Amino acid sequence: MKRRSVIIGTGSHLPQTILSNDDLAARLDTSDAWIVERTGIRRRHIAAPGEFTSDLATAAARQALEAAGLTPDDIDLIVVATATPDQTFPACATVVQHKLGMTHGVAFDVAAVCSGFLYALTVADALLTGGAHARALVIGAETFSHILDWEDRTTAVLFGDGAGAIVLEAQMQPGDTASDRGVIACRLHSDGRYNDLLYVDGGPGSTGTTGKLRMKGREVFRHAVTNLSSVMGEVLEAASLQSADVDWVVPHQANLRILEATAKKLGLDPAQVVVTVDRHANTSAASVPLALDVAVRDGRIQPGQLLLLEAMGGGFTWGAAAVRW
Ligand code: ACO
Repeated sequence: MKRRSVIIGTGSHLPQTILSNDDLAARLDTSDAWIVERTGIRRRHIAAPGEFTSDLATAAARQALEAAGLTPDDIDLIVVATATPDQTFPACATVVQHKLGMTHGVAFDVAAVCSGFLYALTVADALLTGGAHARALVIGAETFSHILDWEDRTTAVLFGDGAGAIVLEAQMQPGDTASDRGVIACRLHSDGRYNDLLYVDGGPGSTGTTGKLRMKGREVFRHAVTNLSSVMGEVLEAASLQSADVDWVVPHQANLRILEATAKKLGLDPAQVVVTVDRHANTSAASVPLALDVAVRDGRIQPGQLLLLEAMGGGFTWGAAAVRW
């Protein structure tokens, strides 16, 4: 028998306000046609004034708990992946902990921007399989609308707000094989040489301001396809699996062209890729758990299937995980 972390519930939350490409074209020199052709994005959700990352995260967490048939009392670990916490500190995770009415357990944030959920999942998996914790809420939540330069058409059209969450539970599974349920393997990477391709031009320790997102999109695109296909291959190898074993890719939703090019490199059918970028745009750390929740709730993801989760983001950071549903 082997201790494995198994996803036993998913949830998500999107702010009510929807901003279409036409809404953006009314205030920026852009068009629905350009945005759809280059990115696949049609609309995005934007948080209301006073609606914070912790609010989205808490709503997603509650839904994941409900799906798992659990209450906050059953959780002893909260890991929130976010680049847009309500405040510089305390950690968004402790705000979520408080909003859930929890006074026990451990809560902390992970900062790896768009790869944040893969980082949070990897850390939570290690804490669960190592025996330190029993059940975790792993959350990706962002309000990138707060760090966008709404005058910059090269970035403003790409992002949206939202949150996704999973409940991860340590369970004893029959053996250390790829047919056991749960997280089979995770692989992470980072390379700080590329900090200047995707960053925020401010911070508490430099400008004393939050700053705005800046990106050299074309160069990010080039690195994304290479890094993502490479780490997906790496995680499959670590799990002693091949691309033919994969049922669903649940990718970070940055750009439809990146999703399709990455799947093609691995020899996967685009129909096996869960796509939400058209509806959600890029929600950074929230995008993988949001897409996962969509595909679980619409019945695409079925017990026994193999999922490949992947993401890449600022830093650069990137990672992948193989999960048996
Ligand atoms: N509307 C209209 N025109 C635009 C817009 C816009 N919103 N934005 C840029 N343009 C113009 C540019 O000014 C440029 O004009 P020029 O030729 O006169 O100079 C032209 O469109 C082409 O610009 P490029 O940047 O070369 O366009 P590209 O085809 O590379 O698409 C995009 C840009 C969509 C940003 C793409 O590079 C991309 O998706 N990169 C990945 C970035 C990303 O997803 N980052 C998210 C975080 S990292 C991650 O998640 C993987």
